[in-house]
Amino acid sequence: MIRKCLFPAAGYGTRFLPATKAIPKEMLPILNKPLIQYGVEEAIEAGIKTMAIITGRGKRAIEDHFDISYELEHQIKGTSKEYLLNEIRSLVESCVFTYTRQREMRGLGHAVLTGEPLIGNEPFAVLLADDLCEGESVGVLKQMVELYRKYRCSIVAVMEVEGDSISKYGVVEAKPLEEGVYVVSDMVEKPEPAEAPSNLAIIGRYILTPDIFEILQNTPPGKNKEIQLTDAIRTQAKNGMVIAYRFRGKRFDCGSVEGFVEATNYFYNKNLVN
Ligand code: G1P
Repeated sequence: MIRKCLFPAAGYGTRFLPATKAIPKEMLPILNKPLIQYGVEEAIEAGIKTMAIITGRGKRAIEDHFDISYELEHQIKGTSKEYLLNEIRSLVESCVFTYTRQREMRGLGHAVLTGEPLIGNEPFAVLLADDLCEGESVGVLKQMVELYRKYRCSIVAVMEVEGDSISKYGVVEAKPLEEGVYVVSDMVEKPEPAEAPSNLAIIGRYILTPDIFEILQNTPPGKNKEIQLTDAIRTQAKNGMVIAYRFRGKRFDCGSVEGFVEATNYFYNKNLVN
């Protein structure tokens, strides 16, 4: 039912300079796997087969990663290292990758709007690869797809954030509907801590109904003079129903050096145990 996942991946990754000068931030690895591959695996687990990736200048490594490298395959064929490519090879074969470029960085909302030709008129998921998530028993996107079956409306994943760091996120004002599920009445992008309507912060997982595209076309620039996805979903919430879902699992902010190191340590220690 949710067949496509959109990955906004055109950003400059300035917080990771100089590492991201010549390589996309989505290609930075946690252990031996690039961030965006974790995202694609989460989407596949949710039953999604089409990955719609919004790239930009300097992002070609993403396309190469989700393709066959004949030279590399030829070099390691029959050697003890061949197994290292198995995982990515079967991932590439199990889904379809579509791409378009965002020419100007005009915000997350603009990135999503750029993806309209890849999505068309159907509900879809959005995954921000630098929010690395590990679901409790099932992945976060899969949890959300299951919720979509029940409510058939746009869904944002939220987590509780304490203190001033709430102003790094989109924040919802919402009323509880069932355990971990809220109906959104309002939302605001990166509020001052005193103005935050709650401590429920949006993280980079969304299910969106396709009316979002027309709304985005009519959404003026907001915070930081960018077209904000939060503002467009707010319009959906005012016109109909939007749900906030407190997901079960962990989330690492791999867009920051601290979160990136935290994720690296977490996955390293986990692999040691397994
Ligand atoms: C974006 C969204 C924000 C959301 C955040 C989650 O912000 O605009 O609403 O809370 O992702 O990571 P960014 O971190 O790209 O500035």
